[in-house]
Amino acid sequence: MSSAYETDALIAENIDAYLETHQHKSLLRFITCGSVDDGKSTLIGRLLYDSKMIFEDQLAALEADSKRVGTQGQDIDFALLVDGLAAEREQGITIDVAYRFFATEKRKFIVADTPGHEQYTRNMVTGASTADLAIILIDARKGVLTQTRRHSYLAHLIGIKNIFLAVNKMDLVGYDVLRYDHIVEDYRCFAREIGITDFTAIPISGFKGDNITTLSPNMSWYKGKPLIELLESVELDVTGDQQKPFSLPVQWVNRPNLDFRGFAGQIASGVVKKGDAVRVLPSGKTSSVSRIVTMDGDLDEAVAGQSVTLCFTDEVDCSRGDVIAAAENPPQAADQFEANLVWMADEALTPGRAYWLKLGTQMVSATVQPPKYQVNVNTMEHLAAKTLELNAIGVAEVTCDRQIVFEPYAENRTLGGFILIDKIDNTTVAAGMMNFSLRRAQNVHWQAIDISREAHAQQKGQSPKLLWFTGLSGSGKSTIANLVEKKLFTLGRHSFLLDGDNVRHGLNKDLGFTDTDRIENIRRVGEVAKLMTDAGLIVLTAFISPFRAEREMVRAMLPEGEFLEIFIDTPLEEAELRDVKGLYKKARSGALKNFTGIDSPYEAPSQPDIRIDTTKITPEAAAELIVQRVIGVWSHDL
Ligand code: ADX
Repeated sequence: MSSAYETDALIAENIDAYLETHQHKSLLRFITCGSVDDGKSTLIGRLLYDSKMIFEDQLAALEADSKRVGTQGQDIDFALLVDGLAAEREQGITIDVAYRFFATEKRKFIVADTPGHEQYTRNMVTGASTADLAIILIDARKGVLTQTRRHSYLAHLIGIKNIFLAVNKMDLVGYDVLRYDHIVEDYRCFAREIGITDFTAIPISGFKGDNITTLSPNMSWYKGKPLIELLESVELDVTGDQQKPFSLPVQWVNRPNLDFRGFAGQIASGVVKKGDAVRVLPSGKTSSVSRIVTMDGDLDEAVAGQSVTLCFTDEVDCSRGDVIAAAENPPQAADQFEANLVWMADEALTPGRAYWLKLGTQMVSATVQPPKYQVNVNTMEHLAAKTLELNAIGVAEVTCDRQIVFEPYAENRTLGGFILIDKIDNTTVAAGMMNFSLRRAQNVHWQAIDISREAHAQQKGQSPKLLWFTGLSGSGKSTIANLVEKKLFTLGRHSFLLDGDNVRHGLNKDLGFTDTDRIENIRRVGEVAKLMTDAGLIVLTAFISPFRAEREMVRAMLPEGEFLEIFIDTPLEEAELRDVKGLYKKARSGALKNFTGIDSPYEAPSQPDIRIDTTKITPEAAAELIVQRVIGVWSHDL
């Protein structure tokens, strides 16, 4: 690129042509971390300015849809540029991370610019998750700060292999070599503690441009290369993923006609050749590769990063979310493991609640145990914790409802990194990094049983059902459920009623009324109810079950249509007026804490299968209605 003007014109004209001129160049993704006033914007501004090519917006977007991007010429005022970047980032806090693109003769770069404050840990994690390198910026006047430690810990946790320690504002300490050496030594001690074995230190001034593109005459004692050259010469681990055993998470099954059946996805690691023996996980079935199909025809061999469709020599079951791997060296499959979690949602982790866990193309339902500990990211101390709040980082055990295929994050970022998603509003609540599977998960196997749930149901001549009554305390759940069961009994149906107050005297007598205990209460009741439906019964449960997420979790445990949510809709004022057990009075007086509807929430079903308005119909009529819905006849007609 000879001038910015030409660049502008070329981009405006033809983005594809522009990208092509850079295609031969390798791409380095990096993140800049530092505290608030350490000159991050100045440094980024300097890099963009000195590389004479300034693009805003994300390269990803640019590559994806070849949209027009804004460009600015080389004669832009440096100070103005820096101000602009800082202002944009401050506003951009809600955008999470600002990605900026620039290129030199040798390489193209994407830099993730993230805010420095502690409350933006999640932004940094987002930016770092795809980075090859982290520049940890230090203000030479201030030395190693809490933020320096936090950012280094996060960068290391996320698995960034290359760390640059840029000691900035050297001009403000008179380019003092002793000051610089002291800071680097200080950092080295800390880095060792957290497991960073190697880093590259460089003294710079982003503002003055010292040691950015050329070596600064002000620091002749520095024997290394200028920053841009260092960035250009960092070795990218392009073949690293290819050295690992072969794995491909299946994105979709390609079956255009009966003669063709292939499994499409992007190779996460290793190399696959025609004829290779492969194993499908988690089932463990083996076959060998008959074809490697791509848009440009068949290949004999494909490597990590390539998107391909594999065909097998045998008819092996394989679907989206499965992983195809080298037969001799497959990743692990387990349903329980330990993981590092970075909590990213305003609402804290609720241990025991079911979240979606997404790992590559796999999506399962998962619960998180109370954390083993939380890490104080400023001091690296391990703290006891009951939950993880926004931006907290901790270690916890995770349990999935079925096996997933994974590798420890330290060995494989693709098969080791996952996110947790809230089931109700679909937001990402956490980023996770797999550590290891728990032995008990490997040692407890599912025992095959000969008499199936269908056989149990058939013997009883009925379809199993779970009638899940939910509503406030005193709404009438137990009364109506009891009437329903009596009617079913009279009709010769086999049923069982699980009632909150009773179950809490036995199975769940160790549980109280905190959110966590209520979730565990419902989890156990759900499991028991499911076993009873396996036995062919029509099960009725009468629990407040205040949270939507857990009711949905139980619904998901059963075959479609077997779970009926029955909302006993009694307004709080009405339940309180009735106050059958005198508990509302106690709660209002403060003698009873965490009482549903008073100081503990009740999330009403938005679309219950059956809604009973107890202010309009009697318990008897309600029971009639429910029986009719469940078995399709009015009991008084029989
Ligand atoms: S749930 O929220 O975990 O589903 P569950 O239905 O088992 O509650 O138990 C609710 C019953 O426990 C109420 O009907 C009431 O009799 C009693 N109870 C005692 N303390 C509380 C409380 N703090 N909140 C709600 N119910 C309570």
